[in-house]
Amino acid sequence: MRILITGGAGFIGSNFVRLMFNTYKDYSIINLDALTYAGNLENLKDIVEQVGDSKDRYEFIRGDIADAELVDSLLKTGVDAIVNFAAESHVDRSIDSSKIFVDTNVLGTQVLLDAALKHKVSRYVQISTDEVYGSLGPTGLFSETTPLAPNSPYSASKTSADLFVRAYYETYGMQTLITRCSNNYGPYQFPEKLIPLFITNALADQQLPLYGDGLNVRDWIFVTDHCAAIDKVLHHGKAGQVYNIGGNCEKTNKEITYTILEALGKPESLIKRVKDRPGHDRRYAIDSSKIERELQWTRQYDFAAGMKETVEWYVKNEDCWKRIKTGEYVQFYQRWYGDRVG
Ligand code: NAD
Ligand code: DAU
Repeated sequence: MRILITGGAGFIGSNFVRLMFNTYKDYSIINLDALTYAGNLENLKDIVEQVGDSKDRYEFIRGDIADAELVDSLLKTGVDAIVNFAAESHVDRSIDSSKIFVDTNVLGTQVLLDAALKHKVSRYVQISTDEVYGSLGPTGLFSETTPLAPNSPYSASKTSADLFVRAYYETYGMQTLITRCSNNYGPYQFPEKLIPLFITNALADQQLPLYGDGLNVRDWIFVTDHCAAIDKVLHHGKAGQVYNIGGNCEKTNKEITYTILEALGKPESLIKRVKDRPGHDRRYAIDSSKIERELQWTRQYDFAAGMKETVEWYVKNEDCWKRIKTGEYVQFYQRWYGDRVG
């Protein structure tokens, strides 16, 4: 199988490239990634070292998924499947400025779909998010039939993309599938999301900016469990279907914060309460029973094991994230927190 993985230099994409590379020795992987602030080729150093100059099993192409000419030229070489991870993925950035979210997440997806249709790609998997369902009250779970109700510019862009994917199935009979996962954590995550931000800040004895009352709830899943679920969907999922993927692990942000402080032996005084994120979804929780039942997917990690591995990874890879936390990163945070620190 020749497979185009987009956004493969990012957090989940790089973990998925590694899973495909190590599991399917006869696959040829093309990784198309624009290398935005969130893309990092160091995430795939181990694979590049293994393949050397050969492009038979793995090839990296730097480029934009919204570049129709480039995507067309890649698919012309014969591609059996596309897995689309490429996206602007951070909610706070979408609140700061949303145009790039439309360009990449919506237009980029449409470009991939058009090219896939033209070149008769047999399978198209869209990596989506539970945020398309909006926010839950204190009880209940998101199922695949929960109405779409996105609340942030990020989730609005992901929802729009999902609707295009659905439309290409309905209109053209394209073999499309959608996965909607909850919050991922683990190695190689860009240190702007809650867990890697708080681990790296705590390691540097910097403040942990906890939004609002700290009681918003997310359903946490270790990244390799998410990747294993995508593997199942890619190979065995039914075209036209949506599959929810969750960690069955609801935690408040406060609980996450204390877990990190305890793991690193750092004081509570590092916690800094800041103004809440505008439009902040209160609670996410996923019903994963469909993928468990139909595709026999199971999780390998519980929260304690996943967090242990994650914290150890950031402790060991300080060189990598210290380099990242400069430049454009600092400018964004100065703008973002500037008027929000209470
Ligand atoms: P990430 O921000 O770590 O990585 C995104 C990658 O996409 C980067 O390598 C970036 O360079 C690349 N990219 C961005 N714009 C591009 C473009 N126009 N063309 C080509 N490449 C481009 O994101 P992530 O956390 O790994 O998320 C991957 C996907 O999974 C996203 O679609 C996201 O919506 C979805 N998702 C993420 C989570 C999560 O908790 N992180 C949960 C559910 C779903
Ligand atoms: O649910 C899946 C989604 O999870 C993905 O689609 C997104 O790509 C991913 O970014 C993530 O979105 P969240 O907004 O839930 O993740 P984030 O890590 O930004 O925030 C998690 C929670 O922590 C949220 O309630 C906001 C809070 N938070 C976050 C940051 C960055 C803080 O309290 N302080 C912070 O500095």
